[in-house]
Amino acid sequence: MKVLLIGSGGREHSLAWALAASPLLTKLYAAPGNGGISDIAECVALDVSDHSAVAGFCRDNKIDLVVIGPEAPLVAGLVDDLEAAGIRAFGPTKAAAQIEGSKGFTKELCRDAGIPTAAYQHFTDHDAARDYVRSHALPVVVKADGLAAGKGVTVAASREEAIAALDAIFADSDAAVVIEEFLDGEEASVFALSDGHNVIPFGTAQDHKRAFDGDTGPNTGGMGAYSPAPVVTEAVMARVMAEIIEPTVAALAARGIRYRGVLYAGLMINAGGPKLIEYNARFGDPECQVLMLRLQDDLLAILNAAVDGALDQISIRWRDEAALSVVVAAKGYPGAYESGSEIGGLAEAAAPPGVEIFHAGTRRDGGRILSAGGRVLGVSAIGQTIAEAQARAYEAVDRLDWPDGFCRRDIGWRALRAF
Ligand code: AMP
Ligand code: GLY
Repeated sequence: MKVLLIGSGGREHSLAWALAASPLLTKLYAAPGNGGISDIAECVALDVSDHSAVAGFCRDNKIDLVVIGPEAPLVAGLVDDLEAAGIRAFGPTKAAAQIEGSKGFTKELCRDAGIPTAAYQHFTDHDAARDYVRSHALPVVVKADGLAAGKGVTVAASREEAIAALDAIFADSDAAVVIEEFLDGEEASVFALSDGHNVIPFGTAQDHKRAFDGDTGPNTGGMGAYSPAPVVTEAVMARVMAEIIEPTVAALAARGIRYRGVLYAGLMINAGGPKLIEYNARFGDPECQVLMLRLQDDLLAILNAAVDGALDQISIRWRDEAALSVVVAAKGYPGAYESGSEIGGLAEAAAPPGVEIFHAGTRRDGGRILSAGGRVLGVSAIGQTIAEAQARAYEAVDRLDWPDGFCRRDIGWRALRAF
């Protein structure tokens, strides 16, 4: 099979790595890809927002399957346009991707289907939102609706902070906001695959969103992850599937929306059970990296089955080992940072068994790998335990020669504190 992978991050490098191991694969293209992906795929400079150009490339190159990594092309309806052109694609349609793109849509769906999530109100009026916050218990959570770059979620400890968050969101005149109750507990992510009829669990992970050790500093796309998530016991997983994920796919179907792709449920877990914080319509980054390290079965066969409505006919097995990934970012990330410096020591770092280095923001320049983004590498390892995977990953990090980078030194702390 010829596959086109859309995206350029660490998530996509790990997907490319797993796809490249499939006996079904004959050719892998990536658009645009990155320095690491270019070792295993042909990177093509397609404008992914130009859907007819993507479809044209697929026709010209006889692509059998398009795999879409990031959310933006999903929310923009790339899958719809590919399907209309007769091209198979893994990922939800525009309507289905609202589960990530519109918090208002998802909260309403949860309310209608009785899915456990934080109580909320949706506002399009600034004054009404301000009045509501003034009488809400603290902390209160303020979320911009839509794929709100940069001003996504504020967990406000004071009313002043909540009102400042509203002011920032409503600076844009057609803004909308979800204001919701604060959920206490431990966060974890559960992944599931859906083909529209069958929904199957696809692993668990925990990530680290803050930039610095001890979960301090600004929010990022994720500074590290590990899998499995110990807090998602078998009993919790059964509840997540039965109370959250399966009812979501059913509620979408009842609205005429067939969900095909990954459902990434961000959960808060406490003694009362799991509650949904948010959905994403794609794999997590860097959660995907640790899932791919643990996946034993053929990713391409699995994604095909999801597209064909045949997820009940395949096996999905995971290695017993744990996996952990440390993001190495450019100094300054998530604020301003510089790109273009050479990263040394990559081969030495990746040499020990069980270590994989997934590139995120890199580009190849002849024989050199240069930084080309905020999150630059995902230094990943498997181990018998999370502690062993962590030790291996940091050993690999320490073999890198890249003075312009930094990483957190405590990835995995939640899973390790009990031991
Ligand atoms: P999101 O962008 O929706 O993933 O939210 C970012 C982060 O905000 C989450 O990972 C949580 O840590 C936190 N968060 C969002 N909603 C809530 C909530 N209702 N209660 C507590 N924390 C929340
Ligand atoms: N690591 C968080 C995300 O992919 O959304």
